[in-house]
Amino acid sequence: MASSAVSKQSYCHSLAILSTTLAFFCVAKTCLAENFKPQVESGDDFIKTSCGVTRYPDLCYEKLSAYADTIQDNPTQLANVSLSETLKNAESTLIMVQKLLKKRKLRPREADAIKECVETMKDSVDELQKSMLAMSDLEGPDFDMEMSNIQTWVSAALTDEDTCMDDSEENSIDGKVKDTIRSYIVTVAQLTSIALALINSIH
Ligand SMILES: *[C@@H]1O[C@H](CO)[C@@H](O)[C@H](O)[C@H]1NC(C)=O
Repeated sequence: MASSAVSKQSYCHSLAILSTTLAFFCVAKTCLAENFKPQVESGDDFIKTSCGVTRYPDLCYEKLSAYADTIQDNPTQLANVSLSETLKNAESTLIMVQKLLKKRKLRPREADAIKECVETMKDSVDELQKSMLAMSDLEGPDFDMEMSNIQTWVSAALTDEDTCMDDSEENSIDGKVKDTIRSYIVTVAQLTSIALALINSIH
């Protein structure tokens, strides 16, 4: 009787030790897992938070979250990636607007408006290219000057895109052509606005 009580007690005792040990490992494992996770997730969280200051947080996050590994939690990298995505988009938008000029049977005033749009989009691409180049030079002593140049160029690019959109709003332009141009320009203008906001958050 006594011996069985003792063995029952020691059985319970080992069970207690076992579950304590298990609990410890579980906690330790969770802690470790949580220590590792933020390194993977910090880029993502940082991008989400930073995109929150832009006018188009969803588009911002959608475009940039794929680059979380490159961006990590570095505002300059974030702005650089955003700028580079904007430039890519501006280049392909320019090509699409140029194609529009060739493919469609246009009335002279429509052709003129689209030509204007092509010219302003070329300027926009130019300004974004200059900005990208200046971005790689931020390490030097001229940080403030380079930053202010980049801000000037990117806001000029945005103005050009808005101008292109306005050109296409003219009454002389066919509704379908109008909608097509607008659909091209809307995205690049939003991406440019995002890039500008992220550039302005670099200190
Ligand atoms: C910015 O991005 C471009 C293209 O992805 C890259 O070549 C360049 O090194 C980056 N610049 C900086 C300052 O990280």
